[in-house]
Amino acid sequence: MDKALSGFRILDMTHVQAGPTASQLLAWLGADVIKLEPPTGDVTRGQLRDIPNADSLYFTMLNCNKRSITVNLKNPMGKEVLADLIKKCDVLMENFGPGVLDRLGFSWEKVREINPRIVMASIKGFGSSGPYADFKAYENVAQAMGGSMSTTGFPDGPPLVTGAQIGDSGTGLHLAIGILAALHHRNRTGRGQYVEVAMMDGVMNLCRVKFRDHQRLQRGPLPEYSVPTDGLKATPRAGNDSGGGQLGNAIKCKPGGPNDYLYVVVQEAVWEALANRVGGEALAKDPRFATIGERRKNQAEMWRILNDFASRYTKWELMKIFNELDVPCGPIMSTEDLMNDEHVKLREMVVELDHPQRGKWYNVGMPIKLSDSPAEIKRSPLLGEHTDEILAEVLGYSQDHINSLREAGAFSKQPAKVPEYHEPRVD
Ligand SMILES: CC(C)(COP(=O)(O)OP(=O)(O)OC[C@H]1O[C@@H](n2cnc3c(N)ncnc32)[C@H](O)[C@@H]1OP(=O)(O)O)[C@@H](O)C(=O)NCCC(=O)NCCS
Repeated sequence: MDKALSGFRILDMTHVQAGPTASQLLAWLGADVIKLEPPTGDVTRGQLRDIPNADSLYFTMLNCNKRSITVNLKNPMGKEVLADLIKKCDVLMENFGPGVLDRLGFSWEKVREINPRIVMASIKGFGSSGPYADFKAYENVAQAMGGSMSTTGFPDGPPLVTGAQIGDSGTGLHLAIGILAALHHRNRTGRGQYVEVAMMDGVMNLCRVKFRDHQRLQRGPLPEYSVPTDGLKATPRAGNDSGGGQLGNAIKCKPGGPNDYLYVVVQEAVWEALANRVGGEALAKDPRFATIGERRKNQAEMWRILNDFASRYTKWELMKIFNELDVPCGPIMSTEDLMNDEHVKLREMVVELDHPQRGKWYNVGMPIKLSDSPAEIKRSPLLGEHTDEILAEVLGYSQDHINSLREAGAFSKQPAKVPEYHEPRVD
């Protein structure tokens, strides 16, 4: 079936999480994504394994709808295969450590020389310029350095990382947007370009409102924060405060388990109805809470009253009561809650797949819903599953040529013999 990105071919040299998130999304949008892996495979195939000798969920959940080819890029013949693939692809994606592709002989200058129409897209921890450019990065390093950790958690506790993978998957989303824009530009101008997203930059982008508050601090305290902010020079950690113009917090419900909370936004428009339901006319008319300014000032008492009310109900019961009043709220849902949730199932946000090594397993579905070309999620490839298919179909190699490359070690860890390297031809 024709898909939104049908006709685009992507050479996906990404690994671990940040890059594969982006290429999986592009594959779900219909691009032909060729995952080029070292002969040992993306390291995540074997990380956090739950079934012996099977590709891990870490790998399978991030590499659906791709084809896999293994190429040894430290072998001269492997480099020739890469150069040929570059000629046949619209996009090359990678998230190697700083300098890796340059060392392999495939800098952006070289890639552009081989295929001037290609879009090359890189994720680095800190980008290719600046004092941090040479450093490697993982998710939590990016969260630490992009402003997320210093603003997450409770003010009297240590900085915390978020469960959402904003450093890796968040950066992958930024990269996918950059690739789509560069492809649109390429289709108009005929010229490819280099797209770079630094994980630190991506996290800063997602922390934008924290920099809003940082600048507001120069003019005085932040009244919506439940913690004192007088005299602060940097945006503090604010627990579960809403962080927006409306007051919000997680209130504790029965029976008091770790996720028995309802997040409630005390939106200005709903205060009267909410107060009437929780404390009757007395609360609705209480001057301490009459305006949003008063509620901000007295929010500790307001949250105490709401928590008292919440302790009589489960999070689901309370959600129903508050939703009837049009109060924006949501129960804190565990992964178990989500895996069994009717709404989640209906929206196909949990998808069952089959895998030759694993059997049945689940992936999180496609959050971008296209009306004419919805995503059809297919399992991740086995290591090198499509090597011969890609060499023949995409590169037009004959079986004899494939055999001689294989003999020369182009696809294996240890080359049988190392033939002379030829500079990639520029057509
Ligand atoms: C994630 C990261 C820290 C992992 O570091 P790492 O395991 O040391 O991996 P690197 O990417 O630095 O290096 C990969 C090595 O494998 C080699 N390699 C990769 N693909 C290969 C292939 N197909 N054939 C042969 N060798 C290959 C590279 O040449 C490189 O070797 P070198 O160090 O001798 O140059 C690093 O890749 C990184 O900082 N990436 C950018 C930020 C990022 O995306 N981080 C988030 C990951 S979720």
